Amino acid sequence: MTTLEPRLQQCETATLSIATPAPDRLRSWPSPRRPLLREIVDFFAVLVNRSIDSLPLAHALHRRALARLEYTEVPLAVGARADLDGLRIAFLTDLHVGSFLDEATLLGICEDVVRQKPDLICLGGDLVNSRPEEIELLDGPLRALRAPLGVYAVPGNHDHRWIADMGAWQDYLESRGVEVLANRGRRIARGSGSFWLCGVDDLTDGRPDMRRALVGRLPGEPTVMLAHQPDHFPEAAGFGVDLVLSGHTHGGQVKLMGWAPISHTRHGFVDGGFEDNGSRLYVSRGVGTTVLPLRVGTRPEIPFIRLVAARAATSGC
Ligand SMILES: [Fe+2]
Repeated sequence: MTTLEPRLQQCETATLSIATPAPDRLRSWPSPRRPLLREIVDFFAVLVNRSIDSLPLAHALHRRALARLEYTEVPLAVGARADLDGLRIAFLTDLHVGSFLDEATLLGICEDVVRQKPDLICLGGDLVNSRPEEIELLDGPLRALRAPLGVYAVPGNHDHRWIADMGAWQDYLESRGVEVLANRGRRIARGSGSFWLCGVDDLTDGRPDMRRALVGRLPGEPTVMLAHQPDHFPEAAGFGVDLVLSGHTHGGQVKLMGWAPISHTRHGFVDGGFEDNGSRLYVSRGVGTTVLPLRVGTRPEIPFIRLVAARAATSGC
């Protein structure tokens, strides 16, 4: 495992059984909730994706990208909360299983994550890529993900795009041991320490409600929020959220001399750590790809967030 030294490091702080959704529960398309221009762009993106995703070359390119998967470690100071010291959160996002990433490969990745013994595992959305039936490829991988403090998820825009009934999506995940935190949270406790883990629905394709997600947290309690799109961060910072974990950008997926032509963020939150008035954002480069099975200048990533109590912190916070 390599140790990342993001900007975050420099700051102190702080079951059910349901099969694939029935066809009538899948999303109608185009959606009345999305701008027409966006529907048109997405239509052509899906067309490209589906035109090439059965080609052996496409799968070879994706394997080559995935061979560079990096496990990064991100420390987060949580003040004088000794019981939380060393707690590790594995954050998997943007799996995009289906087109280029098959079930067996994803299962291997999940088993690898579990072998590294995280205390809890979080999924940041975009579990499927471009077909509703891809959700079935998550069966084995989701069942393999186990951690002492649980496994949690929020949906991404691709999940909304391909699964019409997010209740069915939630049922599918929860029947496989994954608790969905869309606009809600829960307390994670270890010894006498605790933090509020919450999540919001997708920014563009869901119905995010950050205020609801924070109902229940105690005054001064460290807060970790899962939000598929990093552009939730300014709002989260306004609510005093300590750390937002996002994906969505794929680190730009194609980065030329450090520049990402297509980044899917209005605020420049392409990858890595950001800070705003004591709140922090970490944007993972994610696991999979979409449209093209390519990554240029940006490796796939699974970050492990490691909570550091003040007495154990080594950086000059
Ligand atoms: Fe994605």
